[in-house]
Amino acid sequence: MFSTTIFIVAAISYFRITDALTFHERALSPTVQIPSPEYVKLLNHSILFYEAQRSGKLPSDNRVPWRHDSALQDGLIINNDLTGGYYDAGNYLKFTFPLSYTIFMLSWGGADYIEGYQLANQTNYLRNQIKWATDWLIKAHPHPSTLFVQVGDLGVDNNYFGPDSNIPIPRPCFQINETNFGTDAASMAATAFASASHFFNQLAQSKAGNQEDSKYAETLLMHATQLYNSSHNIFPYSRYQTSVHAVEDAYASTDYMDDLILSGVAMYRATRNITYLDQSLELYKATAGISSHSEPLGWDNKWGALYVLFAELMLDSPDHSEALERRIDAENYLDNIVSGITVNKTNGGLLFWDFFSNSNSNQNAMSASHLLLSYSAKVLRPLSEKSSDKDTMLTKIKRYEGKLFIHQLDYIFGKNPINQNYVVGELPNSPKYPHSASASGFKTLNEAIKNPSDLSQAHIIYGAMVGGPSKNDSFSDILLDWTQAEVALDYNAPYQNVLAYQVMFNPKSPFYVSDIVDSNNQDEKPKTVSSPVPLWGIVLAVVLPVLIFISLFTFLLIRRRNQKDTEKEQSSSRNNIDQEERTIRQLGVDEFRSSGSTLVVI
Ligand SMILES: *[C@@H]1O[C@H](CO)[C@@H](O)[C@H](O)[C@H]1NC(C)=O
Ligand SMILES: *[C@@H]1O[C@H](CO)[C@@H](O)[C@H](O)[C@H]1NC(C)=O
Ligand SMILES: *[C@@H]1O[C@H](CO)[C@@H](O)[C@H](O)[C@H]1NC(C)=O
Ligand SMILES: *[C@@H]1O[C@H](CO)[C@@H](O)[C@H](O)[C@H]1NC(C)=O
Ligand SMILES: *[C@@H]1O[C@H](CO)[C@@H](O)[C@H](O)[C@H]1NC(C)=O
Ligand SMILES: *[C@@H]1O[C@H](CO)[C@@H](O)[C@H](O)[C@H]1NC(C)=O
Ligand SMILES: *[C@@H]1O[C@H](CO)[C@@H](O)[C@H](O)[C@H]1NC(C)=O
Repeated sequence: MFSTTIFIVAAISYFRITDALTFHERALSPTVQIPSPEYVKLLNHSILFYEAQRSGKLPSDNRVPWRHDSALQDGLIINNDLTGGYYDAGNYLKFTFPLSYTIFMLSWGGADYIEGYQLANQTNYLRNQIKWATDWLIKAHPHPSTLFVQVGDLGVDNNYFGPDSNIPIPRPCFQINETNFGTDAASMAATAFASASHFFNQLAQSKAGNQEDSKYAETLLMHATQLYNSSHNIFPYSRYQTSVHAVEDAYASTDYMDDLILSGVAMYRATRNITYLDQSLELYKATAGISSHSEPLGWDNKWGALYVLFAELMLDSPDHSEALERRIDAENYLDNIVSGITVNKTNGGLLFWDFFSNSNSNQNAMSASHLLLSYSAKVLRPLSEKSSDKDTMLTKIKRYEGKLFIHQLDYIFGKNPINQNYVVGELPNSPKYPHSASASGFKTLNEAIKNPSDLSQAHIIYGAMVGGPSKNDSFSDILLDWTQAEVALDYNAPYQNVLAYQVMFNPKSPFYVSDIVDSNNQDEKPKTVSSPVPLWGIVLAVVLPVLIFISLFTFLLIRRRNQKDTEKEQSSSRNNIDQEERTIRQLGVDEFRSSGSTLVVI
């Protein structure tokens, strides 16, 4: 007994160690077998939104019929092909810094929730979605320390609100390089490359993966390694707008330190080379006030992601106290969100950070949701399996996966004071006038200004989650109100992660579907798969056993009486009869059960 225990313990530790040494971590397994068709549709639509944002030459399998090849001269003036990639938002500019955040987020969700994409038959679309971005990012990174960070001119672009077939030129291309660097943009691009590399490795291991995927992962890692090295070794560290003033009015960065540290975390995740994690931890600890950030996760601010990923990646670290410290930082950040200490809510319940949320509250609500769900799935649930204090763990899991998160998603889907759904193309109360030049159908900005509610030439840009409401839950569904009604790559990324999570772990549809279609599925109780039992079934279930019992009893009685009669006539032994009776009792149940239906019919 004792030696068996030792063997099991040894075996478990062995697998732990091999686990830790395994190059690739395991993706999460779904608990749902048949996903909600509505979540599948929403996931499909979110990917479709990115396809509507494609720049360059469109592939033959393009699914957005109203989009055309566009901006085919990008990069020509500097002799560096920069065609392709995605338009950043409602207009036709391309920005590397927020794109890197988008790639990072989509790859994070893509790697962890790949089984959800599988369940929804969306894996090939996901691959193309991320690859369309990284193929361009490769073009934007022609030398180890050179990175193009913007294509197009803000002034020129803001004066154009027309179709993709007539995008105005010139489209200048702005770069950072060895002499005019930007630590944040370079390290965030390293993070994007490393995260995408990790995703493609996970993909290669999945049923939908292939050899090409792992080769592509290697290419991406090479770019990541170069940019990681540059961003850590080009001094002084700086924000990229000091080199490229053009981004000042669009995507100026607040700080480079979060990006710098995150790049090491992403490199560690992609390579499992502990040097990267150590370098990140060293920077993290050397920076004052580093564990007390409370801002929402977004294109400019990655502290929240940093806390969560540190904790996730150190979960199995042999350095228990270090691992515990990282969990404390993460839970401090997340608990303060759940209990409303570092964030407010609108009256309708949407998470709202003054300043950060003023124009894109939906993104922040979804990125916070992503962090809560990711931490719960990858830290709390594995911990709770080993924990002796299961109740505390389960309470925490419920807190992170529960009400707050559900309210955020419900709010986006229309459970809010003005019954506004915030995803284009899904419901009658979805935004009708998203700020998207290509989808609007207008030829010029003047045309749009004159008659902004003319939908006669408009196309539906399915799956785009728009910026979101004001602090008072009001929303202006107004074409030229870019603060609230704009579509953007970075908005959709955390939202899509949350959808993939729902596909895997929530068998129920969003509230608006179960309300209308599936009225049997509405109970809030945990799922116990229950098919409704009709009345006749209940009657049969009660009557049938009674009848069977009576007939069995009668049969035995008659039989016994016959036997007794026979006993009198023939002189046979009691033992034989008992033997016979016992056999009947043993076999009887089955025999009578099989003839039971005949009995009932009679
Ligand atoms: C995705 O959504 C589009 C638009 O509604 C639809 O035409 C297409 O069939 C969907 N594809 C999948 C795979 O669900
Ligand atoms: C995914 O594809 C398989 C095989 O074509 C199909 O059986 C299944 O119903 C699909 N699932 C969804 C959610 O569309
Ligand atoms: C390096 O970047 C700066 C800032 O964008 C730019 O002005 C300069 O021309 C670049 N250097 C080269 C060699 O392209
Ligand atoms: C790392 O970057 C520095 C600065 O650009 C460069 O001098 C050095 O050669 C790079 N090292 C590697 C291994 O690429
Ligand atoms: C880990 O990364 C460091 C820093 O880039 C590198 O010097 C080292 O060779 C790597 N180790 C392995 C085992 O790949
Ligand atoms: C929450 O609301 C209070 C009162 O309006 C305000 O002072 C505080 O800055 C808000 N906090 C956040 C994170 O929005
Ligand atoms: C809500 O806030 C917006 C913008 O801050 C403002 O324009 C609007 O008047 C407010 N609506 C109400 C009902 O207070």
